Amino acid sequence: MNEGTESTIGPVAAAPGNPDIDHGNARQTQDGGVCADLPERALDRRELRTLVDTLAASPDQWEHEVDFPEDGGRHYASLYRDAYVDVWLLCWRPEDDTGWHDHDVSSGAVHVVRGALLECNPRIGGEHLETVVPEGRSFSFGPDHIHRLTGATHGSVSIHAYSPPLWRLGQYSIDGTGVMRRVSVSYADELRPLDDMAPPADEAVARSDGAAALADEAVA
Ligand SMILES: [Fe+2]
Repeated sequence: MNEGTESTIGPVAAAPGNPDIDHGNARQTQDGGVCADLPERALDRRELRTLVDTLAASPDQWEHEVDFPEDGGRHYASLYRDAYVDVWLLCWRPEDDTGWHDHDVSSGAVHVVRGALLECNPRIGGEHLETVVPEGRSFSFGPDHIHRLTGATHGSVSIHAYSPPLWRLGQYSIDGTGVMRRVSVSYADELRPLDDMAPPADEAVARSDGAAALADEAVA
C-alpha cells in the first residue's frame, strides 16, 4: 500500500524504493512467525483476512515497528514477504492519503489494530462511498477493488496482507469533469493523491481536439 518512511525490508500499499529489499523467492523474515506455516501458493481473500486477523492478535510480531516520525513522514514496515504473500504494518495520520488506487492482480486484507481508517470507493457520477473501519475490524478485497485510505484518527495503525505480493499498482486521478485515468506505478512508489495532477478539463478537451485533428490527418 505501499506509504511513508520505510522500516526493515520494505512497505505496503507502496513504499519509496529501498535497495535493501530482496525480491528473491526465498522467504525473508527472520523467523516467519505466524507466516511460517502459510501454504506455498497464492492466498485467497478469506485466507488473507485470517492472516491479518491472526497477526493483529499477535502484537509481539509487529508492535515494535509502530512509529510516528517527528518529521511528519509516513511510516510503514515490511513484516513478511515471500513468493506468495507480503505483509505490511502502516501507521496513519489524518493527512496520510493514498489517493485512488487498485492492487493490480493482487487480493488484499486489512486489519485496523489501533485507531481507525477511512476507506473511500469511487462512485462515478455520484458521491464517493466512505466507510470508517474502527480498531478491531478487518476487511478484504479482490483485484477488482479500487479505493483510497486515510487515517481517520491520528495514531492509527493497520496490518495489510497482499497475495500475490504487490509489484505494480494502478493509481487513479479524477479530474474536475469526472474523467478517471489510471497510471501503473511500482509498489516501491509512495502512493499519493493524483487528482491535483490531472490536466484541467479545458486542457483535456483541447488535447482531445488535437488528437482528433491528428487522426483526421492520418486517414486523409
Ligand atoms: Fe490499497
